[in-house]
Amino acid sequence: MGLFSNPKTGGGVPIWFMRQAGRYLPEYRALRAKKPDFLTFCETPDLAIEATLQPLNRFPLDAAVIFSDILIVPHALGQRVDFINGTGPRLSPLTMPSDIDTLMWDLDTVKTRWKPTLEALTGVRSQIGAATDLIGFVGAPWTLLCYMIDGGGSKTFSKTKQFAHRYPGAFQDLITRLTHILIAYLEDQIAAGATVLQVFDSWASLIPHPLIKSVLMDPHRHISLYFQEKHPNVPVIFFPRGIGGYLEPYVDYVKPRALSIDEMVDPFWVSSHVPDTVTIQGGLDPNVVVVGGAAMENAARVYLNAFCGHPFIFNLGHGLLPETPPENVAALVDFVQKGGM
Ligand code: CP3
Repeated sequence: MGLFSNPKTGGGVPIWFMRQAGRYLPEYRALRAKKPDFLTFCETPDLAIEATLQPLNRFPLDAAVIFSDILIVPHALGQRVDFINGTGPRLSPLTMPSDIDTLMWDLDTVKTRWKPTLEALTGVRSQIGAATDLIGFVGAPWTLLCYMIDGGGSKTFSKTKQFAHRYPGAFQDLITRLTHILIAYLEDQIAAGATVLQVFDSWASLIPHPLIKSVLMDPHRHISLYFQEKHPNVPVIFFPRGIGGYLEPYVDYVKPRALSIDEMVDPFWVSSHVPDTVTIQGGLDPNVVVVGGAAMENAARVYLNAFCGHPFIFNLGHGLLPETPPENVAALVDFVQKGGM
């Protein structure tokens, strides 16, 4: 079943998981050992294809999500990106406006640098059935800038916020340039075989209020309207993680075809305030999948009940955690596919 094939749900809610490929799977850890460098792993199409297919070989999921990373884009722009095992990404940070020009913004050049991921998409497309969607993705401009300016993961992304306040013109320039690059990358992903796209704004909760319009709403709206006009058959799922109180104006302004919700928002509030022209995805707490059993089933049933009658894709509020037992994932897929029984 395709992710968008259920206008009104009863049983048979489509299901996939963010980070469905990854470290919780022993076969991923074995494959990953072949290329210790994570970027090299992502850029080796045969390995990316196999990592993408691993969760589908185990569970009857409705979509594959291409194995890659949002930081492929800064890497394609020529920024130094390293993944330090056990620590996470490290980037040579942008610290002042003149650093922007050290990146390669020429689209033809940048396009050659994400080719391995396109090749992997085409390979996966040829190996999965027509009923299984293939999800391509990007990180939204704000979340990418958090890594590009702070230089790695952070709880606060203070350097990014200070850059935005100190150099508002340069920051806006970065948002605009990235938006155009991301649209080009998403279009290339469609041409390579992606049938659904997702935009991850994982750190949207950290955007200071005065910047919400220019940093979140405007770029998301631009991407949303662009794809609805130019690629009406390829739904784009937006994941503005943690924006809670802004959800209603977000839906009005961005007009997302689909909205991925996190575990902090009340699903019943969402189903009664978001029109059913917007497919909802999410939003089970990934931690409850680590726990499994009745706790997991009860929590999953809440989402099935909240979105019974609303177009819905079952997923989590964020990615599967590395400590998740794969058998809990199997049990959850089965539970959801049996309509919560
Ligand atoms: O299965 C899938 O969902 C597809 C693959 C995927 C990865 N990263 C693989 C990955 C996707 C969609 C992403 C998106 C991503 N990457 C986001 C947005 C979603 C989110 O989780 O918030 C972000 C913020 C990143 C940046 C990133 N990549 C970080 C902070 C880290 C280190 C922390 C961690 O989870 O390890 C990564 C590394 C990464 N990306 C791994 C995987 C499987 C682990 C690396 C490894 O296997 O050694």
